[in-house]
Amino acid sequence: MAEIPVNSIQFSEELIRIIRSATHILVLTGAGISAESGIPTFREAQTGLWAKYNPEDLATPESFQRNPRLVWEWYTWRRDLIQKAIPNPGHLALAVMEKLVPNFHLITQNVDNLHRIAGSQNIIEFHGNIFQTKCSYEDIIIESWPETRDIPPRCPRCNHFLRPNVVWFGESIPQQAITSAINCIQNCEVFFSIGTSSLVEPSASLPLTARLQGSVIIEINLEHTPMTYLADFVLKGPSGKILPGLIANIWPQFYPQDTNFSSSKS
Ligand code: OAD
Repeated sequence: MAEIPVNSIQFSEELIRIIRSATHILVLTGAGISAESGIPTFREAQTGLWAKYNPEDLATPESFQRNPRLVWEWYTWRRDLIQKAIPNPGHLALAVMEKLVPNFHLITQNVDNLHRIAGSQNIIEFHGNIFQTKCSYEDIIIESWPETRDIPPRCPRCNHFLRPNVVWFGESIPQQAITSAINCIQNCEVFFSIGTSSLVEPSASLPLTARLQGSVIIEINLEHTPMTYLADFVLKGPSGKILPGLIANIWPQFYPQDTNFSSSKS
């Protein structure tokens, strides 16, 4: 990818003014914001021995019921892949924005924990967190369990299989996450949709909900999506370049002009 100096990206004065004056900003992110950290997006082809599997066929309660070992080993593979990744300038820019905007909340569909590692705090994890494990029967987080040869390991309390604390297809988003999202959307003046194909509900409906209550909608993506028609501003390009450029233009006092945003892995 050609290096785009972030200060060379031109943003409209109106966009800069709107974001700079906003006191309530809500951001929705998808797999695209982690792509520049080297994590394949959800709908990109899988690699290696998992190439023959479709994520939609593995991330389901039925798959886990049918073949718990296969599903557990797929998540172990994904966790190992993600563990090697570091936040990219897009994650870091959102962590900076959170510090500069009085009421800032971040809803992520990603389970990779990179927003937290980047320093974001007001995070609503719609689809859980791949580094957390829960009991498949009691649905509670299990921090540790005795090392055994069982794959998946078993809950030390009830002996049912453990599973990753992520939302599978056909499962509901945690009620707490939904309630938080509804509260945040009610007051948001600016809604960002970043790096998501806007195909999966209920996330895909959030931009429309925000639009209907008067928020300015900004989409950052490499391509158009089903919610592009809703956007007041469509910033087409990699979020790892666009977001630092936005921050540098909106709050230049916080970013010396020669700041180097490229993450060490880029
Ligand atoms: P997808 O893989 O569906 O979409 C990724 C989006 O990111 C696409 O629209 C890409 O164009 C865009 N993209 C890729 N690289 C980008 C970059 N560098 N900068 C900006 N945009 C980029 O992933 P999601 O939309 O996150 O849910 O998928 C949503 C949910 O679908 C996932 O959380 C998963 C799946 O069902 C569960 O597993 C429950």
